[in-house]
Amino acid sequence: MTPGPMTPASHDDASRLDFVEGVRAFNYRHIVKPLVDDYGRRVDERKRAGLGEPVTKEEAGSLYISDPSYLFSCALQRSMQRLGWSTASEGAHREAASLSMELRASQSTSVHSELILDSQLQMPDWYTSAHFSGRDDIHLVEGGYWADELVGPFYERGGAAYRLAWRGGYDAAGPGALEIFARSAPPGRYDKVLDLGCSFGGLTRVLRSVFPTSEVIGIDISVPALTYAHYLAERDGQRISYQQRDASATGFDAESFDLVTAFLLLHEVPDDVRASIVAEAFRILRPGGTLMFLDIPPYSALTPVQAWFESFDGRGNGECFWEEFLVSDFPALMRSAGFEELSEGPLDYEEKSYWGSSALWRTGEFDPVHRWVTRAVKPSLVAAGSL
Ligand SMILES: C[S@@+](CC[C@H](N)C(=O)[O-])C[C@H]1O[C@@H](n2cnc3c(N)ncnc32)[C@H](O)[C@@H]1O
Repeated sequence: MTPGPMTPASHDDASRLDFVEGVRAFNYRHIVKPLVDDYGRRVDERKRAGLGEPVTKEEAGSLYISDPSYLFSCALQRSMQRLGWSTASEGAHREAASLSMELRASQSTSVHSELILDSQLQMPDWYTSAHFSGRDDIHLVEGGYWADELVGPFYERGGAAYRLAWRGGYDAAGPGALEIFARSAPPGRYDKVLDLGCSFGGLTRVLRSVFPTSEVIGIDISVPALTYAHYLAERDGQRISYQQRDASATGFDAESFDLVTAFLLLHEVPDDVRASIVAEAFRILRPGGTLMFLDIPPYSALTPVQAWFESFDGRGNGECFWEEFLVSDFPALMRSAGFEELSEGPLDYEEKSYWGSSALWRTGEFDPVHRWVTRAVKPSLVAAGSL
């Protein structure tokens, strides 16, 4: 994929981003990994004090929480996250006039893709409230996905730094995991495919190439995210329709899609919205249609120490719904919405180049357990006894 609309980084920005990546890599390799590797010794010490093996993440966390090395590693993670985004944002804003012009031009000369915005759609309170109440915005990005017109261009560069690959660009590692996920859809005919919470179109673009003859639609509530997704599709000649719609109440006709997907949406919405999204997906899928999510594994799939390190994003990275999702019984929610043939588990793939990421647990060796697939089918009319 060719680079996004960002102009080249200034020397100062480049050196700040090198610094961000260098500190992060150092943190993962030389502070976090030794802390994790030291877990057994800490457990032995706990046992000598008459306490048992930790069974909860909080018990595992109690072996770290007041350790200065652990606190230092959390502070490094958070500070580098802030510095990466602010560097990317400042760079984009120095070029605001030309970037805005480029984004708008792609809308008015659209030939491959489509962008449909809904000026009546209200941003839900839960989506905007962190920003207005002074709590952390999601991923510590000022204004989240929605408040800054240039969030697309700067997420691209900040997100690449997040992956420890800013010089290569956000897509340097290729679609990897997303392609394997998309190809894991059960064999079948997918005439209409819908990607929920598509943001800048990471998964949507992959769906486009994996299902070349399908109609592919990506929806999100963020105008700037959709605008940038549309810009990329237009630039790359991809036939994708991006539409501003709420995944919990899409307004699409019942039984109108063969495949509904979402990548990293579930952990970014509150419990009740997640339930509405699953119910809405059930409504708009045709009988026999498939629903597939790629997200973060539940704590129940992790050891207590893994779960403790994974929980950092909820405490230190602005992920305010992380905890409620990871403790929930999501398969039970899917079943209660009517889905059948439910399966879940880690995505089976190797993606060594995407090795730096948000959670402190991701210590430099990318571990497939951090991408979790939940798949289910809407019962066919025959199976449901309706014929
Ligand atoms: C982590 S991003 C998704 C990444 C994206 N799927 C990809 O492939 O790169 C989460 C996205 O969900 C969107 N979102 C959150 N709640 C939503 C809702 N109720 N309806 C539609 N989109 C929503 C956010 O605006 C954000 O763009």
